[in-house]
Amino acid sequence: MTRKSCAIYTTGFVCAHLLIVGIAMVIRFKFTLTEKSQVYESWKNPPPSYLEYYFFNVTNPEVFMAGGKASVKQIGPYTYRVHRPRENVTFLENGTKVYALNPKTFVFVPEKSVGDPQVDIVRTVNIPLVTIMNELPSYSFFLRTIVSMYINSLGIELFMTRTVHEVLWGFEDPLLTKLHSMKPEVDEYFGLMWKKNGTHEGEFVFHTGEQNYLDYGKIDTWNGMREMSWWSSNQSNMINGTDGTVFHPLINRDELLYIFVADLCRSIHLAYVEDVEVKGIQAYRFAPPSDVLMSPKNNPTNAGFCVPAGDCLGTGVLKVSVCREGAPIVVSSPHFYQADPAYINAIDGLNPKKEEHESYLDLQPTTGVPIRACKRAQLNMILKRVQGFPKTKNITKTIFPIMFVNEMATIDDESAAQMRSLLLNTPFAHPILLMKWCQNFQEMHEMHSCPCTAGSGSIV
Ligand SMILES: *[C@@H]1O[C@H](CO)[C@@H](O)[C@H](O)[C@H]1NC(C)=O
Ligand SMILES: *[C@@H]1O[C@H](CO)[C@@H](O)[C@H](O)[C@H]1NC(C)=O
Ligand SMILES: *[C@@H]1O[C@H](CO)[C@@H](O)[C@H](O)[C@H]1NC(C)=O
Ligand SMILES: *[C@@H]1O[C@H](CO)[C@@H](O)[C@H](O)[C@H]1NC(C)=O
Ligand SMILES: *[C@@H]1O[C@H](CO)[C@@H](O)[C@H](O)[C@H]1NC(C)=O
Ligand SMILES: *[C@@H]1O[C@H](CO)[C@@H](O)[C@H](O)[C@H]1NC(C)=O
Ligand SMILES: *[C@@H]1O[C@H](CO)[C@@H](O)[C@H](O)[C@H]1NC(C)=O
Repeated sequence: MTRKSCAIYTTGFVCAHLLIVGIAMVIRFKFTLTEKSQVYESWKNPPPSYLEYYFFNVTNPEVFMAGGKASVKQIGPYTYRVHRPRENVTFLENGTKVYALNPKTFVFVPEKSVGDPQVDIVRTVNIPLVTIMNELPSYSFFLRTIVSMYINSLGIELFMTRTVHEVLWGFEDPLLTKLHSMKPEVDEYFGLMWKKNGTHEGEFVFHTGEQNYLDYGKIDTWNGMREMSWWSSNQSNMINGTDGTVFHPLINRDELLYIFVADLCRSIHLAYVEDVEVKGIQAYRFAPPSDVLMSPKNNPTNAGFCVPAGDCLGTGVLKVSVCREGAPIVVSSPHFYQADPAYINAIDGLNPKKEEHESYLDLQPTTGVPIRACKRAQLNMILKRVQGFPKTKNITKTIFPIMFVNEMATIDDESAAQMRSLLLNTPFAHPILLMKWCQNFQEMHEMHSCPCTAGSGSIV
């Protein structure tokens, strides 16, 4: 054996040995959720994210009511800093699972906003009215008659003008107040984020990864459920993957990453897009591929998201009435990015752009840690003619955009520095190489052929 190959073996041996020790260390002590692990603190108290709200201000309600095309003007951002600590953390089943709540608190950030939400006015869909019109058939005859008389006689309009703060955080709505007097379980207040400040999106039980690092952060149950029941297929009802804040180490470009998104009431998947660099750290960008919200005509597995079964919308939109108490709410990407052009063309003032409207996640592949995340989603409402309401007689059925959010989080400078030094000081830079090295190590171990001792070899 030549000196050179021996040196390679030896180097390989040393590297591989370091790697094995390193992997064991990293995975056992860093990437399981135990109170002693390095990830625990940042999992329990993640740095705040920034949530930008953009609204679609309707400029021509009369034209739309008369059967024409609506025109909107985007206003925003109104930015909030979101604190999202894990609370009531309880380890279960010998530390293999962990229970946690994740309440979110929103604090307005004036310097990152275009104006004062308490002052700025937006004209948008009268969401309580449309919700009630939609639910009316399920009410008793008596209630139905009174409510429709009330709406028609008072001249409640399909569009409302409110401050941004009211639309987000709630206001006392006259129609809801009227309904409340007859049906006390109906809340008198309405707001897109009403009662959402300081509250959580359900009780989660996660796998800690103690048994298998691939399960790190995976959801075991949500509100006690292993799967949902509101979608129309078992596949659609699955609660898959993590909550999107953590991922298993050793991420592969070929894999699909599953996350459960409580806002969407469903699981989605992300696929590798490209390599990126964030604050000096190499990362893989993952994004939801277009098949996630594709019409069942082109992607039959999505048929399960049509509720009732067979009642399907087109590509790029998801009706979430099942978990919005029946309200005709539709979620999409902002400006209907990647959606059927028919939805974009139905409204004047939309202009979908990849850079501004796609969602993505940049992950450091060895550790699986998200380095930068950008979650973007738009809320829309189905507007259509409703029997018994003459005012709606001429309108064209439209998926009407109301607002969209852009939630961003980037690793802070201190954590980025820690991550860079972890990656520099250990040969972890590349997971595929890492795995190859480990395989080599095993082969070498079986060969026992290198005469050099581990200490004496050096890179030639
Ligand atoms: C979480 O803990 C607080 C007290 O720390 C308690 O008041 C609350 O009921 C707990 N929540 C749940 C859902 O267990
Ligand atoms: C927890 O560990 C103990 C001792 O190792 C074992 O007897 C017990 O069955 C375990 N419990 C669970 C829920 O795994
Ligand atoms: C949310 O609650 C926190 C404290 O509980 C408060 O400081 C903050 O202003 C509230 N945010 C909004 C938008 O009301
Ligand atoms: C939104 O439109 C309304 C009605 O035209 C207008 O009064 C208001 O100033 C607009 N809001 C903003 C923030 O431009
Ligand atoms: C769906 O799940 C339910 C309950 O888990 C089961 O009874 C049923 O057979 C499943 N349906 C299909 C088509 O697999
Ligand atoms: C959940 O994961 C399984 C594979 O494990 C996949 O077949 C299914 O489509 C996923 N469901 C959703 C809603 O993402
Ligand atoms: C609907 O259109 C018809 C015919 O153009 C018109 O006479 C009627 O006033 C319109 N109704 C409403 C509520 O706009």
